[in-house]
Amino acid sequence: MKTEFNQKKQRKINIKGGHAVILFFAFFIIGSFLALISCGEQKEGVKEEFLVIKGTKIEEFNPERAEKGSKIFAEKCAACHKYDEKFVGPPLGNVFKKRSVDYIMSQILDPEKMIKNNDTTKALLKQYMTQMPNQHLSHDEALSVLEHLRAKAEGK
Ligand code: HEC
Repeated sequence: MKTEFNQKKQRKINIKGGHAVILFFAFFIIGSFLALISCGEQKEGVKEEFLVIKGTKIEEFNPERAEKGSKIFAEKCAACHKYDEKFVGPPLGNVFKKRSVDYIMSQILDPEKMIKNNDTTKALLKQYMTQMPNQHLSHDEALSVLEHLRAKAEGK
């Protein structure tokens, strides 16, 4: 009698355990589903930012390149950009941390396309009332300027 009771109790516990496992999986599946839906919504809602250059890789810091970039900056950018203050254009001392490398490369190499399509650049034009002209840098020169801006932002 006593053992029979124990067996029943045991079975009850087993069933409860089974339910818990099923419930766990149900919540897991529903949870994943909701996560998927919300991700999808986010992707549709937030427009992928327009960029001209994609896939710029950040490699080990190259001081020689940064030095080259510093010279190019003095010649072709300093007329409009300072590092810490607004000038004709926005300050660039911290831009390496503030924006993506592809954004910076795009802005240097094709400011005309950026001004037409990139929402951040459009907002900057409104603020500064000047459109950045294309400085006709090569891709390699732009990478050097990027390294210079990296040195400024990271205090190298
Ligand atoms: C004739 C002035 C002028 C020159 C020269 C110039 N810029 Fe600009 N730059 C601007 C202005 C104005 C903006 C903001 C409006 C826009 O993007 O057109 C800007 C925007 C930028 C931005 C975006 C900043 C941010 O906060 O998102 C970067 C990066 C930039 N310039 C880099 C450069 C570099 C590097 C050079 C040199 C190769 C350069 N600029 C030369 C005027 C200039």
